[in-house]
Amino acid sequence: MTVVAARALAKEYDGHAVVDGVDLAIEPGECFGLLGPNGAGKTTTLRMLLGLTHPSAGELTVLGHAVPEQARAMRARVGVVPQTDALDPDFTVRENLLTWASYFGLEQGIGPRVDEMIGFAALQGREGAGVAALSGGMRRRLSLARALINDPELVVLDEPTTGLDPQARQHIWQRLRRLRDDGRTLILTTHYMEEAERLCDRLAIVDGGRIVAEGRPRDLIARHIEPCVLELRGGAAWQWGRGEGMALAARSEDVGDTLLLYAHDDSELLAALGAAPTIEYLSRRANLEDVFLRLTGHDLRD
Ligand SMILES: Nc1ncnc2c1ncn2[C@@H]1O[C@H](COP(=O)(O)OP(=O)(O)O)[C@@H](O)[C@H]1O
Ligand SMILES: [Mg+2]
Repeated sequence: MTVVAARALAKEYDGHAVVDGVDLAIEPGECFGLLGPNGAGKTTTLRMLLGLTHPSAGELTVLGHAVPEQARAMRARVGVVPQTDALDPDFTVRENLLTWASYFGLEQGIGPRVDEMIGFAALQGREGAGVAALSGGMRRRLSLARALINDPELVVLDEPTTGLDPQARQHIWQRLRRLRDDGRTLILTTHYMEEAERLCDRLAIVDGGRIVAEGRPRDLIARHIEPCVLELRGGAAWQWGRGEGMALAARSEDVGDTLLLYAHDDSELLAALGAAPTIEYLSRRANLEDVFLRLTGHDLRD
């Protein structure tokens, strides 16, 4: 059964469309990403999936339950990691998990599950610590542990690694991969293209409340973008790019101080740059950021 089926889902605030006709079909065991900049409508979309925000229009079922009508029954089968950790600051790690379990009526015999989740979140030895004593990464892992207490089939994560340092992000990524390997369905939002590229089986690129492209990360890149990219930054490099560079490239994008040259094969470009040793450049493979730029005309970080 399709885990999330949304058709023409929309949300307006004050006559302004924040989510503007979104269709989704998310299958069991997938890690599905919503990739887009701040304000794209990602959180609003997730809140509608969870029955927390009522759609202005559209049809939605989650785990076979009509939402928002049957949201209560659906939420018992779903785990949520919100954009900001909503942990109880007066409680310890263990108490936060026990309290959350009680919301699901699961306090009976939950001890082993709580221990397992503390292990999953690598918080052993911190069971008695207050939330305030935890690092940002630990708090996020505790939020994740909490979201798993009811053994959910679907886990929904809103920007799971925003604000975390690279090590803490890696830690969360490992755990999300483990959840997916366990066969759970994951839906996450992010504005980090490397997070989307690494974790998601499939993703939707969202901008201005609409899905502008959808597919497997690699397929999206192959479908929309030439594989080789040169980044030219600064006066001389930019000048070179506008002239000789562009003549050898398939396409270019001018993004402020940087000129991006796209090519199916960059060997001629690199040879020309080899003959111009003062020009500084970065040569890389195309990524989802390039797809986003091509389809929306602006940066993911806007
Ligand atoms: N309750 C609300 N009332 C009015 N506008 C809102 C509300 N919630 C979100 N918005 C607006 O909707 C747009 C999308 O917000 P959001 O879904 O939070 O985007 P994202 O999570 O992609 O950053 C933003 O412009 C935001 O200001
Ligand atoms: Mg958001």
